[in-house]
Amino acid sequence: MSVKNIMEKRRSVRHYDSSYKISSEILSSLVESASKSPNGNNIQATRYLIIDDPDLRNLLLPIAFNQQQVIEASTLIVMLGDYQAFDKGNIIKIHEEGFKAGYFDESLRDYLANAAIKYYENKSKEDLKLELTRDVSLASMSLILLANEAGFDTITMSGYDSKKLKDILNISERYLDVMLIAIGKGTKAGHKTVRHNVNKVMYRNKII
Ligand SMILES: Cc1cc2nc3c(=O)[nH]c(=O)nc-3n(C[C@H](O)[C@H](O)[C@H](O)COP(=O)(O)O)c2cc1C
Repeated sequence: MSVKNIMEKRRSVRHYDSSYKISSEILSSLVESASKSPNGNNIQATRYLIIDDPDLRNLLLPIAFNQQQVIEASTLIVMLGDYQAFDKGNIIKIHEEGFKAGYFDESLRDYLANAAIKYYENKSKEDLKLELTRDVSLASMSLILLANEAGFDTITMSGYDSKKLKDILNISERYLDVMLIAIGKGTKAGHKTVRHNVNKVMYRNKII
């Protein structure tokens, strides 16, 4: 299916076949492809926390306002951003790997690494939160498209108590939770939704 086709057909699905299992090979392959998404300075800050323990899912259900997809979907993924990805050491390491793989020479390696270090060094926590949100959101959309292409249904969720979720899953302040994504085989089609006419959302050169 083309990307355009998936965009036309995809719906947020809220009811899943809880007996359907997605193999860890398929899941790894979806995540591996999603990780090819564009990301700021290629610092690769997105983390995919797969929650497949039914007990944890049951604990998360009330935290996510009893949204049944939390327990019914084959997979529940907490999409996280890792603040440690901004560390100088990580930036240097990633660019060294690119150099060793032969993707660029020493001078481009140093230029890219130094540009990235400079870009992040004076940013506030709030700025870094926005950087993580950008990267994790792009990876999330990729994952959603890939999962739909593979024949699964998906839903994105921000309807959960972030603090309680982090407590239950022991997620430290090192990580920013951006959203939850559930993936599985839907048992009830998602309802259709309208979209603004393109003329309402597309502007040229200025917006008022
Ligand atoms: C960031 C984000 C958070 C969302 N959170 C929830 C949620 O907690 N529960 C829910 O039922 N749908 C949630 N949705 C799904 C939206 O309601 C849905 O995408 C929108 O109504 C458009 O419908 P469609 O996805 O079927 O095209 C969320 C979507 C996004 C992008």
